[in-house]
Amino acid sequence: MILYTERLILRPWSENDAKSLFEYAKDPEVGPVAGWLPHKSTQESLEVIRHVLNGAECYAICEKGSSTAIGAIELRLNGATDMTKRDDECELGYWIGKPFWGRGYVPEAAKEVLRRGFEELGMTTIWCGYYDGNEKSKRVQEKLGFVYHHTCTEVPVPCMNEIRTGHTNYMTKEQWKRNGCGNQGIVHEVKNTAAEHRAK
Ligand SMILES: CC(C)(COP(=O)(O)OP(=O)(O)OC[C@H]1O[C@@H](n2cnc3c(N)ncnc32)[C@H](O)[C@@H]1OP(=O)(O)O)[C@@H](O)C(=O)NCCC(=O)NCCS
Repeated sequence: MILYTERLILRPWSENDAKSLFEYAKDPEVGPVAGWLPHKSTQESLEVIRHVLNGAECYAICEKGSSTAIGAIELRLNGATDMTKRDDECELGYWIGKPFWGRGYVPEAAKEVLRRGFEELGMTTIWCGYYDGNEKSKRVQEKLGFVYHHTCTEVPVPCMNEIRTGHTNYMTKEQWKRNGCGNQGIVHEVKNTAAEHRAK
């Protein structure tokens, strides 16, 4: 599956991406805030492509006109996420190389991936989280219209050998539609919609 946005192409990862993955994933400002260690070699990046970035809905983010993978975006389906045990729910995860921060690329990619999840994969709710202090990721989720659900103070982060505080947000298909399917920009919702979700 290949997805297109105004400025980006989202396509499956290939072993040929190991060099560019290493280029961006070796940066200590990218992985650790998301819970994984910076890559140490192209070989390690190749192993990550083979064994981690191999989900059915995991995409390499590329700029249109270039085949270079500059980031990753994924819908982690049931079995690949601990945020849900339902087949009609999944988790959104993402990162992008530091030279590309601040261009709105991840929100742009995420809008298309959310559309894929709700319209084509039959998702009813998509979850998304961030570790306390990751203001950039929090901001991405705010801009997309995710709604606060809960905070956990004791989240194990095995790759980093740490315990962190994690914040979990969610978006239902109804909210996504109400928000104009991601086309209305920033959406502020009242927090009690979390109660509405639990009652579902
Ligand atoms: C979080 C992340 C995916 C955002 O992607 P992006 O494409 O840069 O998203 P945006 O351009 O919308 O920027 C989001 C916010 O980041 C901040 N930001 C952008 N560029 C920045 C930079 N160069 N330095 C510091 N902060 C920056 C801004 O607050 C921005 O919000 P704004 O649009 O209201 O100003 C990206 O920063 C990243 O990959 N970070 C490391 C990995 C990570 O945190 N992954 C998510 C784990 S939950």
